Formats: sequence, C-alpha cells, structure tokens
Amino acid sequence: MGRLSHKSQGSGSLKVEFHNVSGKVKDLAFEKLHPGVVLVLTAAQIKSSGAVEKLNELSEGLLGDSVRRARFPGEAGSRLAICFYPRGKKGKESLFVRLSAVSEDAWSSPEASLDEWRRCGADAVRFSQAEKLSEVSLILGEQDSEAALSAVLEGIYLSLYQYQGFQDPKAKPDSLKLVRIHAIGLSTKKFQLLDTRARGLAQGVNFAREMVNTPPSEFPPAAFVREAKRIAQGSKGRVVLKVFGKSALQKMKAGCILGISQGSSEEPFLIHAELSPKKKMAKAKRIVLIGKGVTFDSGGLSIKTRPGMESMKCDMAGGAAVLGLLEAVLLSELRDTFEHELHVIVPTAENMINGESLKPGDVVRSVSGTSVEVLNIDAEGRLLLADALGYAARLKPDMIIDLATLTGACAVALGSEYAGVFSDDEPIVERLLQAGVDMGERYWRLPLAKEYRDQLRSPVADLKNMGNEGGPGAIVAALFLKEFVPLKARWAHVDMAGPAFWAAEKEYSRKGASGFGVRSLYSFLENIDGVLASPKKHA
Ligand code: BES
Ligand code: MN
Ligand code: ZN
Repeated sequence: MGRLSHKSQGSGSLKVEFHNVSGKVKDLAFEKLHPGVVLVLTAAQIKSSGAVEKLNELSEGLLGDSVRRARFPGEAGSRLAICFYPRGKKGKESLFVRLSAVSEDAWSSPEASLDEWRRCGADAVRFSQAEKLSEVSLILGEQDSEAALSAVLEGIYLSLYQYQGFQDPKAKPDSLKLVRIHAIGLSTKKFQLLDTRARGLAQGVNFAREMVNTPPSEFPPAAFVREAKRIAQGSKGRVVLKVFGKSALQKMKAGCILGISQGSSEEPFLIHAELSPKKKMAKAKRIVLIGKGVTFDSGGLSIKTRPGMESMKCDMAGGAAVLGLLEAVLLSELRDTFEHELHVIVPTAENMINGESLKPGDVVRSVSGTSVEVLNIDAEGRLLLADALGYAARLKPDMIIDLATLTGACAVALGSEYAGVFSDDEPIVERLLQAGVDMGERYWRLPLAKEYRDQLRSPVADLKNMGNEGGPGAIVAALFLKEFVPLKARWAHVDMAGPAFWAAEKEYSRKGASGFGVRSLYSFLENIDGVLASPKKHA
C-alpha cells in the first residue's frame, strides 16, 4: 500500500496573479498582454467592444476567419473564448480559438452557463500546456460576475490534476507557472477569497480523484483510514476521528459490513470523522454525510463480467468524495463559518472471493437489528450503507446525505453526466439540484416509488438485498437504504455510479476519476441554512 502522490493533487507551483483593470475591455492594450492571452467575452461584449476587431487586426485577419468558420451564433448569453498568442514567437498557427456557444436549450439557464467559465479556465491551462507556455493571461470583461471569476479559477485548478502514480513525472512536465487574470471591476480582496475557495475545492476534488484512480491493491480499506488520519492530524484538533476495525465492528454487530468483507483478506473499517463548528451555537444541527467505500467490487460470488469489473476500483468514489469534501472544508473559509456539526462516515471493505465468502442465500444482521437475505453478493454497497446508516442513527442526526456508486441501473438510466438523487425532502432536492448546476455536477431526481417496496420482501429475513431481475434497480436500491434511515432524519441518497468515473477526457477532468460530489456538496453546505429553514414538505 503506497502513499498517494500528493504532487498531482494540488495547484503545485502554479501562481495565479490578479490584476484589477479599470475601464473597458475595448481599451485594453492587447499587444502588451503576453505571452498568451485568453480573452473571454460574452456575445454582447463581442458586438460592442471592438475587441475582436482589434485582435483580428493583430492576428492579420486570422481570427476573423476562425470566428466565421465556427459560425459563432452571437446570441445573448453565449460566450467566446479566444486564446490569442501574439505574433513573433510561433506565428499564425499558434492562434487558438475556442468557441463555447451556449444555446438556449433546456438546461442552459444562465447558471448552467457558469460551467462554461470553468471550461474556459481549463482551456487556458490545457492550451498553455499543449503550447508549452509558461505564462498565460486571462481577461474577464466588465459584465462578468464574481461567480464567473470563481468558476474560471476552479476550472484552472481542476484541470491541473493528472494521475501520475506509475508514470515518470518527467514525461509530462508542467510548463505553466503563472496565470494572470485581468478583471474589470473586481477587487483584489474579493479575488483572494475566491481564490482560496477555488484552491481548497480543487484540492478536495483532486484528492478524491487521486484516491479513486489509485490501483485497488494500492488503496485497500486501510488506505482510507490512513487518509482520514492524515486529515484529522492536520486539522489542529478540529476533526475528531473514530475508526472501527474488525473487532470493533463485531462488537457493534455490523453484520453487513463484516459479511461482505469476509471474502477478502483486507480488514474492513467504519470511519467516522466529526468536524464541530468553531463556535457552538444552540441552533447547530447535526449533518451526516456517508460515502460508500468499496475499494474493489468483484461482485463476490455473484461475480461480475470482465468488462463490468474493469472500472471497479471506482467503487469507493462516494467515500472519496465525502473525505475530499472534508478536506476542502478544512482548507477554506467554511471551516470557520460552518455553523453545524459535520459528520463524515465511510464504511469501507473489499468485495472479493475466497472460501469464506458470503454465499447467495446467506442472512446477515445489520447494526439496526434488521436481518437481510443476501441473494446477490454484487449488491454489496447497500449492505455497507445499511450498517453505516444504523451507526449514524445513534448520532441522532438532523440530516443525512449518502453518496454511492450504487447501481449499474442508475448509470444506464442517466449516463455519465447525471447522478440520480432520491429523496422525499423537497428543499434538499431543490438545493442539491441547484448546487449541481452551479458547480457543474448535475443531478436528476428519481422517485422513491413505494410501489416497488414489495420487491424487497424475503421469505426468510426482514429484507432481501435485491429486487426483481430486470426491475427498477436504482429505485429498489434506494428503497432498501430508506429502511435504515432514522425516522427523524431528513435524507437524500445520491447514486453516482454514472458520473464517478469517466471513459473519456473532459474539459477539466481527465479520463478516470471525476471527483464527483465534492463541489456540489460543498456548495450545498455553503447554502444549507436555506434548507434548514424550510422544513420537509411531503411529496
Ligand atoms: N458497484 C456496483 C454499481 C456500479 C456499476 C458502479 C457500474 C459503477 C459502475 C454495485 O455494487 C453493483 O454491482 N450493483 C448491482 C446491483 C444488482 C446486483 C442488484 C448492479 O447494478 O448490477
Ligand atoms: Mn457490486
Ligand atoms: Zn459496488
């Protein structure tokens, strides 16, 4: 079990400098901004500022061609990002135009287009890396908001991440050393706040990505414990950590976690990290986040197919997300401003096969006392979560959100762009959906349809761990979890099987672990008071 390569997680040696510009974009002396300039303009600015004409002049007409070729629609709300490389160094070929036109389709609300800014920030980094630039300048126009600057910064830091574990770091040298941001009408003080937040967020996301990308044998359940300890030790006493190993889990009667892990030679754990608010307030609520931490899912004796198993090191992405979130909170302002108790719980085990493996038909008993007939050993995530929910119930939580790569069915239904969210709590769902749009991690609500509850009936135990073959698997899994949620807690379940692990490169994420959940949960926590102020409405 090696260490994580923390080098690839942070913003490393990259410096981001802020320049407060007065006046208007059209008055900027573009020829003096060098060596690379990424100009981000809205359609309205393009029409009015004359900036494009100016750049076009400098590029000897090349820019105009590119803009025409890409048929920029010029609608309100659409954006054009131009990376302009002044003549002299490489010539016209190095002129780069990226067009990100947001059309007026269903989901492209103004908030949705915030993610365009994230992509623009990432483009600036990717382009500079491809061109081996050491410095790049970015310009934000007079109409651009703080939120846009924030998103650009997130895009920059997120796109710096690359898993390097087993490759020669010298093979992919990072040339980029400095990003200059020229923004009109935003203060340096504000920039510093936004920059700290964006760096903390990206550090949390990239840490989560690193845990997920690390090969499964290098990241067994004990590695989760090691990382949780590192976070607690670095927290100056703010994080109190409890770790329950095999014998403690036996005492706790966590039969579900123990059952799944008995086919593996790796010890299972239940990790509980608590961050208390800086100042204890009477109105402080107890917020619990639970993340599924199956460090490898072979399916157990209900063994997966070869292609089905290939990406199963990602089955701890929920656990990685909640630990990544804790890291992001500790690194940013939220550490001091969050007024509630934050509990992060990760049940972690490996789902493997040996002579002691759980067999289909075996019955286990959860922390809460509920007995479960395990018909499918591949439906292991819900078993781990059942014990974690049973443990969480003892804390008398006000709210629980769980994140899990729980079902292939959810990934099939929503693909890699959306996580499913299951909850009867309207304010939580509303806030989570909005946080997802703002942060570029989208959620789609699926029903907790009680009509399917019958599928969990077992002839020998209180429940069985799967529903009908070919049935609504994601919903049935959510209904299974609901059985273990304490009655008084508000609750949402996030099935992130689709977006946890990407098959292709994205603007600000590489192939592999996405770090899904860290940013949207962070935004959810930032805005939690609105949710707490509106009690649960029954659907
Ligand atoms: N870890 C998988 C779900 C998964 C699939 C995550 C694809 C990411 C990508 C989970 O443990 C699982 O195997 N679920 C089963 C449940 C079924 C046996 C009821 C599934 O979805 O097939
Ligand atoms: Mn499974
Ligand atoms: Zn699984």
